[in-house]
Amino acid sequence: MHLEKAIEMKNITKRFGSKVVANRSVSLTLYKGEILSLLGENGSGKTTLMNMLSGIYYPDEGEIFVNEKPVEIKSPKDAFDLGIGMIHQHFKLVDVFTAAENIVLGLEGEKGKLDKGAVAKAVREIADRYGFEIDPNQKVYNMSVSQKQTVEIVKVLYRGANILILDEPTAVLTPQETEKLFTVMRNMRADGKAIIIITHKLHEVLAVSDRVAVLRKGEYIGDVPTAEASQQSLTDMMVGRAVSLNIDRPLAEAQTDRLVVEHLTVKDKEGVKKLDDVSFVAKAGEILGIAGIAGSGQKQLLEAIAGVQRAEPGSSVRYIEPDGSSSKQLVGMDPLSIIKKGVLLSFVPEDRFGMGLVGTMSISHNVMLRSYRRGKTPMLDRKFPKQLSQKIVRDLEVVTPDIDRTPIRRLSGGNVQKVLVGREIEQSPTVLMTAYAVRGLDINTSYTIYNLLTEQKMKGVAVIYVGEDLDVLLELCDRILVLCGGKVSGVVDGRNTTKEEVGLMMTKLGGGN
Ligand SMILES: Nc1ncnc2c1ncn2[C@@H]1O[C@H](COP(=O)(O)OP(=O)(O)OP(=O)(O)O)[C@@H](O)[C@H]1O
Ligand SMILES: [Mg+2]
Repeated sequence: MHLEKAIEMKNITKRFGSKVVANRSVSLTLYKGEILSLLGENGSGKTTLMNMLSGIYYPDEGEIFVNEKPVEIKSPKDAFDLGIGMIHQHFKLVDVFTAAENIVLGLEGEKGKLDKGAVAKAVREIADRYGFEIDPNQKVYNMSVSQKQTVEIVKVLYRGANILILDEPTAVLTPQETEKLFTVMRNMRADGKAIIIITHKLHEVLAVSDRVAVLRKGEYIGDVPTAEASQQSLTDMMVGRAVSLNIDRPLAEAQTDRLVVEHLTVKDKEGVKKLDDVSFVAKAGEILGIAGIAGSGQKQLLEAIAGVQRAEPGSSVRYIEPDGSSSKQLVGMDPLSIIKKGVLLSFVPEDRFGMGLVGTMSISHNVMLRSYRRGKTPMLDRKFPKQLSQKIVRDLEVVTPDIDRTPIRRLSGGNVQKVLVGREIEQSPTVLMTAYAVRGLDINTSYTIYNLLTEQKMKGVAVIYVGEDLDVLLELCDRILVLCGGKVSGVVDGRNTTKEEVGLMMTKLGGGN
């Protein structure tokens, strides 16, 4: 069978400055009518390679062929003229415009004034053809991340893209939204389109792609038909050595109550209860998992404990000092005093720069932002952030030329996130709350994070872990609290429960013990 090539990249090299070789003589082929997964650890050069197809970067060496013809892609417009559309890790939509307005943005100049009705009709046609749900007249600021992503994809299809590149489209989607996206991708494949998807979730790679190509430290390691691959074989290819995909779950000797939460209730601006009479205990020496479908109150729970969400009267969060001598009511306390108790929250947002990281600053400056208040005087203590940064870079294998000079926006997406998560983990908390800690992290680093959390637990920290991956919750956590519509559906023993049991409790109150 002769397969037609949609894209062929030959011996592509891309350097940044004199030190960083992001891609070294990479050759990659994409066939028409296939879904190719591009896999590699954080910082292995995936986004850079794709940016050379979408006209954001130009290669230092090598050749690119599109539809078997040599091409030069010097700008996003060149890429678009060749039928290549890329959906980036960070969306680029205009908030105050509608879906349809965003889709035609920039096209008016070429084609004269656009007929709104015709645009809406064309958008609906694309939506019907591939199975998108989209309202052309909805404003972007009213949209969920998943809806925004739909607009981005429809936008490139509207412009006639036959080759689609999706850079970590599922990192910010719920499992249900991911399923929908995969259905759309399969419909596009059936229509003859060629698709490259970047994802760190190996079960997704296995579920959606026909073939997997692997990068390691900027080099092309090889490709395999997905049918012949497994999570283990792909991990080994990516990392370059056999890696264990097991999470250790030792039992900590002493488990004492650290946080006693009673009747915690949080309302949103409209007065709707987002968290409703939640009571539980988080113990030192345990990882307490929080399971629930997206938006079940996970965010409000962690933020209320951290003091950044107002809790309703009658709510109580008692913090018991590590020596057991006394307890302190956290409800009503200001967030800084709560941090001083060692109660730290690391919430990885959908947009990594949305939460307390400054892109133009170095790692050590970003760490200082969060930790300078630990010093006894208000003076900045420069030694501590530096040591902490070195520890984060070492423990989490952050790929960066240095900690003092390189602005973090130059790091790869996953490496930015390692800084975000590492900053809290490495600060000797007494209560460590993490949400979506492994979002966008490669599998090896995800396991490093699980191990670091377990290490904290064994040191006597009360760890609260909010995550979406049930397999991980079941392997990592000592107990799992299940939220459903803002209420506690039950608490189960992580060692003696099943995915089915937790899944059921996520959609229905009751069950467990
Ligand atoms: N504009 C830039 N300036 C300097 N270095 C850069 C730039 N863009 C990327 N790099 C470096 O190139 C390397 C590859 O980065 P890239 O973003 O392609 O990785 P990635 O495989 O997409 O990682 P992730 O999975 O974390 O998104 C990294 O070491 C990164 O720091
Ligand atoms: Mg990337």
